[in-house]
Amino acid sequence: MRHLLSAADLDVRDAVRILDTAGQMAATQAREIKKLPTLRGRTVVNLFFEDSTRTRISFETAAKRLSADVINFSAKGSSVSKGESLKDTALTLQAMGADAVVIRHQSSGAPHTLAHAGWTNGAVVNAGDGTHQHPTQALLDAYTLRRHLVGDGGRSDVSGQDLAGLRVAIVGDVLHSRVARSNVQLLHTLGAHVTLVAPPTLVPVGVEAWPARVSYHLDEVIADDKPDAVMMLRVQRERMSSAGGGFFPSPLEYTRGFGLDARRLDALPDHAIVLHPGPMNRGLEISADAADSPRAVIVEQVANGVAVRMAVLYLLLAGESPAPTTTKVDA
Ligand code: CP
Repeated sequence: MRHLLSAADLDVRDAVRILDTAGQMAATQAREIKKLPTLRGRTVVNLFFEDSTRTRISFETAAKRLSADVINFSAKGSSVSKGESLKDTALTLQAMGADAVVIRHQSSGAPHTLAHAGWTNGAVVNAGDGTHQHPTQALLDAYTLRRHLVGDGGRSDVSGQDLAGLRVAIVGDVLHSRVARSNVQLLHTLGAHVTLVAPPTLVPVGVEAWPARVSYHLDEVIADDKPDAVMMLRVQRERMSSAGGGFFPSPLEYTRGFGLDARRLDALPDHAIVLHPGPMNRGLEISADAADSPRAVIVEQVANGVAVRMAVLYLLLAGESPAPTTTKVDA
């Protein structure tokens, strides 16, 4: 693996290797080995053209826990506001020596261009591009599903598909969601059955070609499918207004039809868990009851994101050996 640009780039073997390595990373953290020497002397650049809390901080934490040097770049307050291009920004950061570039960009395809245009010699990791892809989010979601519904070690069945047979409902603003696109691909690769649940206005054109079923009725999906997990999506109002579109259905209609509340939570199977990539619109796609319930693993998703991103950086920059060294550097 030279870059991580899309969940579609990962076959079962790649995905399971990342999840297993994340498990090893989490185990070292649980043993209070806070810092591994694995990436000492390597530089990771976080290149963020779009706002982020979880992804940016967890990539920074992951890189530091592997002893890498970290350069954080945010478009706000940089020469991007004077009109500097992605190419010139990337060349400038390359001049400072980047072994990996973690990029978030509002334009779908920007990480692909960065990886293939020769503007950096480093490994490129897509931290979210437009409405296109967010592969490390899908990996941390798969890791969280595996921990709760399968077991830390995965299934290890003959197919190698760690989430084989799990039923996952992905609910909400699918149209604007790179999280949904990445998850549909990765969950399919890992053997899960995905149902997308959304109002017709928030379903993308061409969804028939995705490896997922589509429903417009959340209550029916909960009653009939009995999902093992529901993944609530953020309603991306900023992308609706920038596209010149309004919010339809209205927020009230949306919440009635597609919001996860205490009633719908009670209707889920006892073992079912609730995921949300964050940031949440409390009271819109998810009620406070649901967000704060014991079934919600939303805060744990954030913690798992550090282990998964450590695994991705480790596998991209330190090669293929299966087990990370656990030599303690400092606590
Ligand atoms: N899940 C996610 O990408 O959150 P941030 O926008 O805070 O990084």
